[in-house]
Amino acid sequence: MPYAGLNLDGMTALVTGSGRGIGSALAFGLAQAGANVALSDVPEQLPGARETAERIKGEGVDSRTYGLDVLDLANIRRTVDEVVRDFGRLDILVNNAGIRRRQPALEVTEDNWDAVIDTNLKGPFFCAQAAARVMIEQGGGRIINISSQLAIIAGENRAAYCASKAGLANLTRVLALEWIKYGITVNAIGPGPTETPGLLAADTRSAAELAADLSANMPLGRRMLPEELVGAAVYLASPSASATTGHLLIVDGGWTAI
Ligand SMILES: NC(=O)c1ccc[n+]([C@@H]2O[C@H](COP(=O)([O-])OP(=O)(O)OC[C@H]3O[C@@H](n4cnc5c(N)ncnc54)[C@H](O)[C@@H]3O)[C@@H](O)[C@H]2O)c1
Repeated sequence: MPYAGLNLDGMTALVTGSGRGIGSALAFGLAQAGANVALSDVPEQLPGARETAERIKGEGVDSRTYGLDVLDLANIRRTVDEVVRDFGRLDILVNNAGIRRRQPALEVTEDNWDAVIDTNLKGPFFCAQAAARVMIEQGGGRIINISSQLAIIAGENRAAYCASKAGLANLTRVLALEWIKYGITVNAIGPGPTETPGLLAADTRSAAELAADLSANMPLGRRMLPEELVGAAVYLASPSASATTGHLLIVDGGWTAI
């Protein structure tokens, strides 16, 4: 008989920023593991979310899309209410929405600092708070924050981003500590460089510069694919992770191992 501990049948997951990239891959992977999935993103990425929702329905589970800008607290609370109304429950929240702005520390403006911290740290906190209120009533749940390998090492020209991801990793521990008594586990995943539309748009280096960087820093020898993060998310979302909480699971092709 197959091991049932990774089965998400009957659960509902909400994934933020799932119109493309890692969020879209995680949404599809959670659906393949059996979960019904609420995809969400800002309006301009909703067409991508709808496409993923159609692919998910082909897996035999339910899926819907929601316009959710994690900068808007009223929008967060409304979306969580709508997901519970539509699916009857909310078991898994994946805080994936995030932005990157590369700038030397000396040139960072207040606007850029606030945009990165608000999207990558404040937004996930208030999504977690809204989801936890529902999960407490249901007797438990799973929250997964998409942090970064840059939570534990420095990245040049990424002051606000690194601060946001390190903050999210320690926020994960605080929420884990406060909410384990409600049966809610809170964990983070720390991806290394992963080929997504957002990463490709931000990386303006030549092919030679990229190859030199990967050869010096990435034991895997290439960038990761979003699908290579799915197993980590399914595990952290699953019944088998009931005692795993407050953990930052680094999945980075060995970048931080050297
Ligand atoms: N790609 C990587 O190498 C990498 C590495 C480590 C961590 N991450 C993290 O993984 C997550 C996904 O990154 P990605 O590479 O897939 O990026 P991406 O830019 O391709 O996708 C990010 C998604 O988040 C959405 N988003 C942005 N701001 C939002 C907001 N205010 N409200 C709701 N949605 C919003 C975007 O519309 C987009 O669909 C991010 O948190 C990122 O920091 C990525």
